[in-house]
Amino acid sequence: MKKEIYPKKKFGGKISVPGDKSIAHRAALFSLLARDKIIIKNFPNNQDCQSSLKAVETLGVTIEESADKIILTPPDKLNVDDETIIDCGNSGTTARLLAGIIAGSDAKVILAGDESLSRRPMKRIIDPLTAMGAEIYAEDNHLPLKIIGKKLLPFEYRMPIASAQVKSALLLAGLASSTSVTIQEEVITRDHTERMINEIGSGITVDEIKPLPIVDDIDPRKKKMKMPADFKKEIKLSAQAKIIGGEIDIPGDISTAAFFMAIAAISKQKITIENMGLNPTRTAFINYLKAIGCTVEITDKQTISGEPRGTVSITGGKLKSKKIVKDNTVALIDEIPVIAVMSAFAEGTTIIRDAGELRIKESDRLTAVTENLERMGVKCGLLEDGLVIEGGKDLNGADFKSYGDHRIAMAFSVAALFLVGPSTIDDVSVVDISCPNFYVLMDKITK
Ligand code: S3P
Repeated sequence: MKKEIYPKKKFGGKISVPGDKSIAHRAALFSLLARDKIIIKNFPNNQDCQSSLKAVETLGVTIEESADKIILTPPDKLNVDDETIIDCGNSGTTARLLAGIIAGSDAKVILAGDESLSRRPMKRIIDPLTAMGAEIYAEDNHLPLKIIGKKLLPFEYRMPIASAQVKSALLLAGLASSTSVTIQEEVITRDHTERMINEIGSGITVDEIKPLPIVDDIDPRKKKMKMPADFKKEIKLSAQAKIIGGEIDIPGDISTAAFFMAIAAISKQKITIENMGLNPTRTAFINYLKAIGCTVEITDKQTISGEPRGTVSITGGKLKSKKIVKDNTVALIDEIPVIAVMSAFAEGTTIIRDAGELRIKESDRLTAVTENLERMGVKCGLLEDGLVIEGGKDLNGADFKSYGDHRIAMAFSVAALFLVGPSTIDDVSVVDISCPNFYVLMDKITK
């Protein structure tokens, strides 16, 4: 479905965005491991999270839906045989986390996905799960994956890439198989799995390694700070860890809210997002907004279901560019497409590096962003692992492509509001992957 978008001048108001996709996937998938019911409030009605819900239903979970919650009742035994095919749709989180659960259970399943998901790398989960003793068959390390669940071995793993999906797949494999798993992260990634195990279960400890003062050998009067280990976090799941069940209330998704916060930033006006997730492993975008010249106010801070949340008001200012590299790139990984759009309206040149992972998301996001930025007249350099974007003036409306990727469609819908003349996006049906009411919310804050 093609959409025309016209430039607008006045923005403002208060919205809430759908529930956090990462938390929702986990809440749904945990029903396969729980002893009792899982009650989920604010479960988002998007295609990705529906893939996780359908998957658990196929595996035997009973789903009852009412106006304000869904109730998931775990089966006595997973309902599968050799022939059971689970379609994970476009959702990498469903495929990778579910692979961990199945690998450690006594089920046999084939995990499949759409064309985009079938191109995404699965070696990152196949290798460590196989090292735990899992039986997984895949052609060329891509979906479909045939997984024959079995009792897995205790496992210690230093993450070779920064990925919350891989970390979570291994923790869920440990839970499914009552096997201990220790993970060390050199780069900290989102920690919703760890928090949820703590919230509705038990048996996980997380150690954040902080630099310690040490005395300088040469001059004992001096002290320097040194990391006592060469990793930043250690997560230990015990063989006795369990998921009991209970209620999970999901806060609004900061990665979806980012598109509306970007509208506030570029327009220099004020937009408020209510009940937005503020998990510290996800809030790098707020720090980034402050650093480029926006004012951010946070009220009503509270923690529910182990996840911090609050009401966040963003008022845009004169935007300046800011380099994004290393751990900060990881912390902003889902927000880079909209950051690239904001950079086009900022003063100076924005450099984004260490973002090679973006080439293997729902689309090659580095290429998609570059081509769309060039369509609106921005000078943009495409690097193997990043982008160089020159802030521009008088950028023109353009015919954008979504590349079948929800975040690309949403990012360039934001851009279209600030261009000279109308723009089109070739297929906006892809926003249903994470935020089906995206254009309703956009209209709500557009005067
Ligand atoms: C996610 C982790 C990230 C993120 C994705 C959701 C998760 O992926 O980009 O949108 O829910 O764990 P990676 O683990 O591949 O970095």
